Parts: sequence; C-alpha cells; structure tokens
Amino acid sequence: MAEKAKIAILISGSGSNMAALLYHSKLPNCPYEIVMVGSNKPDAGGLSIAAAEGISIFAHPHKGMTREAHDQIMHDAVIKSGADYIILAGYMRILSAQFVQKWDGRMLNIHPSLLPKYKGLHTHQRAIDAGDKFGGVSVHLVTAELDDGPILGQCKVAILPDDNAESLAKRILFAEHQLYPHIVCEYVSRFQNPKYLLDKVRALALALPQSHERESHGSEGWRVGSEKSGKYFAYFNNRHHGEDHIALLVKTSGMDELLSLCENQPDIYFKPAYYGASGWVAIILNRPNVDWEHIATWMQRSWRSVAPKSMTKLMDIAEQF
Ligand code: GAR
Repeated sequence: MAEKAKIAILISGSGSNMAALLYHSKLPNCPYEIVMVGSNKPDAGGLSIAAAEGISIFAHPHKGMTREAHDQIMHDAVIKSGADYIILAGYMRILSAQFVQKWDGRMLNIHPSLLPKYKGLHTHQRAIDAGDKFGGVSVHLVTAELDDGPILGQCKVAILPDDNAESLAKRILFAEHQLYPHIVCEYVSRFQNPKYLLDKVRALALALPQSHERESHGSEGWRVGSEKSGKYFAYFNNRHHGEDHIALLVKTSGMDELLSLCENQPDIYFKPAYYGASGWVAIILNRPNVDWEHIATWMQRSWRSVAPKSMTKLMDIAEQF
C-alpha cells in the first residue's frame, strides 16, 4: 500500500467527527493517519480522546489575539506535525485569507447543511423553518469565502414532521460520521484514482488549440489537427501493459533526452513499452504532489512538436503580445 497521507484535525468542541475520523484510521487499508489534533479551546472534549489514543495534541486559545496571529500559531503547529492536509471538524473559527491560501487544495471542512444552502450558523433550524424535506451535511474544500469551496460530497437526511433543531442535528451527526471519513479517504488517495487523473489530463489536452480525443489501442489519446489527418501528442496509459504506474505519454526530442530523463528522475519518468522506441516518455501521474503546471508544459511541448507549422507560427506571434 502507498504511504499514508498525514492529516491534522482542528476542532473546537466535543470532537465527535474527529473521533469518527480517528477510529476509521484504525481500519485496514485506511489511506490516512492522524498526526495531530489541534484546537483553539484548550478544554475541547476531543483533545482528551485524541491524547488517550496516543495522538499528539496542541491547543492555543484565540482570545486577545488577532485572527492572523492565531492562525499563524495553528499553522506552525500543523507544519511541525508534518501534516499534508488540515481537516476542520467543528473548528468554529473564521480563517484569515493568508491561512486559507497556505493550505489551498489541502484543507477540508464539514458543514451541517446541504450547501450551498444555509452557510454559517443555525443550519438545522433554518432548514426546518424553510419547510425543507431534507437537511444534511456537506464536505467541501476550504476557500477564502465562508462555507463556499468546491463540494466534495454530501449526505441527505430526511426531516421528520416532529423534528426540532436538536433532534435533527443529532441524526445529521450520524451522517457526518459516515460521510467525513469516506470523503477524506477518497480525497487523499485521489491521485491513485484513474478517473480523477484522466479528467485532469483530458482537460489540459482539450484546452490546446485544435485538439480532439481519439482512442488508440484501448488508451485515450489526443491529436492536433483535423479528424482526418491529425497527429497524436498525448496518450493516457492506465497500466495498459501491466505497468506499475498510471502515466501520461508525451513526445521528447529523441532517445537521448528520453533516456536521460528516465535515468536522472526515475520517480517521475519511465520508458514506455512500444512508444518508447520512437521517443515517447511516460510521466508518472499516480504519485503525491504532481506538479500539474509541469504536466501542462510537457503537453504543450508535445503538441508543438506535431502541430502543423502554420498553427505554431500563429501561436508564436500571439505569445509575443
Ligand atoms: C458538527 O456538526 C459540524 O458539522 C459542525 O460542528 C459540529 C461539530 O461537532 N461544523 C460547523 O458548523 C462548521 N461550520 P463535533 O465537534 O462533535 O464533531
């Protein structure tokens, strides 16, 4: 199994979501481990649960501090723990833009409503008052705006005729405890997921001028030019020939470059079966921290090497402005 992702959980209260994440991390093949639980409330109930399970805990009250200064203290503690992700689980703080920026794409939050409905507080009462048939819970990526980032998953919970905010909150909490570990697992292992990788590669390939997708020997491929006479500039290889890795195939300048890349950076490149003989290199995609700008640059380069000169000339002129 691949190395586990390291997560830090921030809480302000009883920490039942933290506990759900914690017990899930003890199940076989869980792709994450908890390296720290932090809080702005030194007496948060969840801290003692985490400590009893041997997880390092950290608390620093926010009283009397600026938002930025407190966020910085929490950030430093998380960095010290070695975490790759921050998982907010009932962390009742509005976060400064700087803090959010530092964890862009690596900070998740759980919110007890079916977002985009009912951002902020009193979500259950607002759902009942609106006569909604369902309440629920959302897990989303954290962005600068409160409860607003891309939604990663939701679970609907039916509202009963005699529900009040308290009874509904209690039932929604069961759903939270199911949803959060599931989504965290999915998110931290997304780079092992062929569909996630294919979607990213496809978006980059089809953003290039006059490109289209065409399957080739069972693999997705992208060509530049017309449907009739276009040329391939990229292929997606999902272990097509039993390789260890999922990879993107792009064209190098030739065998010298291909061999040098594979020899000097074997964690990133390998020589693919069949295509390697004509100078295509495989870039490994199923690894943590893929630099997608680097992938985009390779894709553009490969596109340029096969695109008709008339088209690349126009691009060169456009790029001068
Ligand atoms: C949970 O219901 C969570 O969704 C909510 O706080 C509760 C924390 O409970 N979070 C928010 O309202 C964030 N806007 P817990 O401490 O028992 O996990």
